[in-house]
Amino acid sequence: MLILGIESSCDETGVALVQIQAQGLPVLLAHALHSQIAMHQAYGGVVPELASRDHIRRVIPLSRDVLAQSQKTLQDVDVVAYTQGPGLAGALLVGAGVACALGAALNKPVMGVHHLEGHLLSPFLSADAPEFPFVALLVSGGHTQLMRVDGVGEYTLLGETIDDAAGEAFDKSAKLLGLAYPGGPLLSKLAEQGDPNAFKLPRPLLHSGDLDFSFAGLKTAVLTQSQKLGDQLAVRKADLAASTEAAIVEVLLKKSLAALQQTGLQRLVVAGGVGANRHLRVQLNAACAKRGVRVHYPELHLCTDNGAMIAMAAAMRLQSHKATPKRDYGFNVSPRWPLDQLA
Ligand code: KG4
Ligand code: ZN
Repeated sequence: MLILGIESSCDETGVALVQIQAQGLPVLLAHALHSQIAMHQAYGGVVPELASRDHIRRVIPLSRDVLAQSQKTLQDVDVVAYTQGPGLAGALLVGAGVACALGAALNKPVMGVHHLEGHLLSPFLSADAPEFPFVALLVSGGHTQLMRVDGVGEYTLLGETIDDAAGEAFDKSAKLLGLAYPGGPLLSKLAEQGDPNAFKLPRPLLHSGDLDFSFAGLKTAVLTQSQKLGDQLAVRKADLAASTEAAIVEVLLKKSLAALQQTGLQRLVVAGGVGANRHLRVQLNAACAKRGVRVHYPELHLCTDNGAMIAMAAAMRLQSHKATPKRDYGFNVSPRWPLDQLA
């Protein structure tokens, strides 16, 4: 069974083909991606209307590309899956509209997928796939959550951010340091040349006793520190970047370890764009190795948004009988949609 997956929730258009096997995990046949980052960079952030228009331009050529790569035709596709939410309403509508039009034209069923479930299940696309149950640290530009995952669709929220997401903290701090959008990877690169102990930045909610996060105060501390530095900022930028990264990573690390301890689970899955952060991976790997905990990540190029994770989430839902695709082409998008409300 062949699933075509379309992702268009934010600033990446992704399309992929995943095949469900008689046994074992579904396999990725091909995926294609277009990032709009260069287009949005001039504005310092994502411009929703431009994002929607660009998704319209990209989605069909990318679909042709994955079909050609895997030597399949549209007639071979059994189910068309798309990101139903959360995300930018206009951007989501493009993927949903195209998917449902394709489904109707081909007389094939369609399926809406939760974007965060896509991230959560993306490590199953890697050679070192996890096994259930596990603790998941979901760290993207819009979300920071710790979940207990017992199976496909069996998600219990353990804690989440009460304000900014981890990716947002990276991006907003990077902006204060004069770095381009999205600043996370750039801040991380700059941090490699800096001293993580140079500035004492807050570790919000580190000792709160629960598994919630808060990153808004950190951004304010970075602003205050950069104002204090004044002209000196130019030569201390790498130090401030390294100190910011260290603060974010320490909170993510400590809360993940607390979640593992609280649940008694021995497996951690890290997903979402911030999961690409090298410093976070090094720290988590070391701490988990010490405790005999296995850590799984998506492959580096599948950490940020892509179509493969959407096709995979649809395939795993179908395989575990958690969803039935519909021949109802009146589509709906869900710009706000908590993951733990997913049945
Ligand atoms: O998962 P994602 O592609 O999009 C959302 O669903 O939000 O995550 C994007 C976020 C951005 O905030 C970006 O700055 C951050 O992931 N990010 C990173 C790194 N790569 C991407 N943050 C820190 N270090 C990185 N290497
Ligand atoms: Zn995402």
